[in-house]
Amino acid sequence: MKHFINLKDISATDLRKIILNAKKRKQKRKNLNVLDADKDSPLKGKLLIQMFEKSSLRTRLSFYLAIKQLGGGALTLRPDELHLAKGGESLADTAKVLSTYGNGFMLRTDNDEKLEEFKKYINIPVINGLSPSSHPTQVLSDIFTVEEIKRKPISKLNISWIGDCNNVLNSLIAASVKFSFNLTVGCPKKYKPKKFVLDWVKKNKKKIYIFNDARKAVKNADVIFADKVVSLNDKVNKTKKIKDFKNFKINSKLMSFAKKDVIFLHCLPRGSEVTDEVFLGKQSKVWQQALNRIYVQKSILLYCFGKLR
Ligand code: CP
Ligand code: NVA
Repeated sequence: MKHFINLKDISATDLRKIILNAKKRKQKRKNLNVLDADKDSPLKGKLLIQMFEKSSLRTRLSFYLAIKQLGGGALTLRPDELHLAKGGESLADTAKVLSTYGNGFMLRTDNDEKLEEFKKYINIPVINGLSPSSHPTQVLSDIFTVEEIKRKPISKLNISWIGDCNNVLNSLIAASVKFSFNLTVGCPKKYKPKKFVLDWVKKNKKKIYIFNDARKAVKNADVIFADKVVSLNDKVNKTKKIKDFKNFKINSKLMSFAKKDVIFLHCLPRGSEVTDEVFLGKQSKVWQQALNRIYVQKSILLYCFGKLR
């Protein structure tokens, strides 16, 4: 059974297959309505159960549409509707029941261990729809978007990340190893990537470049990524953290230090880390990026359901 919990645990070959499949499927359904199923309906009759312990707009909708377009259906649960949240039922029993009712389980959680626990007891694929340590479905979709726009393999591009070293960056770092691309990070010194992430990079004989000067970090960039300074799972003094990042705001001046045809990407939702001028400007591809989540989720589901061809 194939879970989709962390990019680092999935082979580069499979990740590449997912991207290729997404590209083919996106091209094939150009004239279809959003709820029309792909002609082959490969997941006909299958049910994806999804549960969100944290807010979500894109992940929720894109998985719903992804399984629909593959011919199946989705059921979205709120944790407060289950006995599990109130301690009335164990995770192990919940997992067993999910396995008998559904064919896949997507979880957005505030606890990485919960994903591992579900994996232990469940008999259907588990997908990580964002956890404190990673956001793998987002980043795989972002690789797809970068290659779609730049019409080149990402291994030939310079990618810069400006901002907090959070779950999305952790997955981007894992992707930089799997897809062999050049990754530069710009963040204040005390917010650099966690040691366990850097150790993993080292173990995989990869190097990422970290600067505490945003201008240096975007030099020669083909793509600039950003994300909120304060994430869903952050238990910090928000005002202080935002202040700490004041020199890492993405504005037109900063964009001018990158390549001329640089694009701006942001997983959304946004905070004050980027100006409207950049976010709503020509170089920004954030809406295309958000929409592509559907196409990549579909191929992630096919991978998990053993139907990726
Ligand atoms: N980017 C992303 O995961 O968005 P949501 O939190 O709205 O799902
Ligand atoms: N880093 C952000 C991503 C939101 C999609 C968060 O975890 O809140």
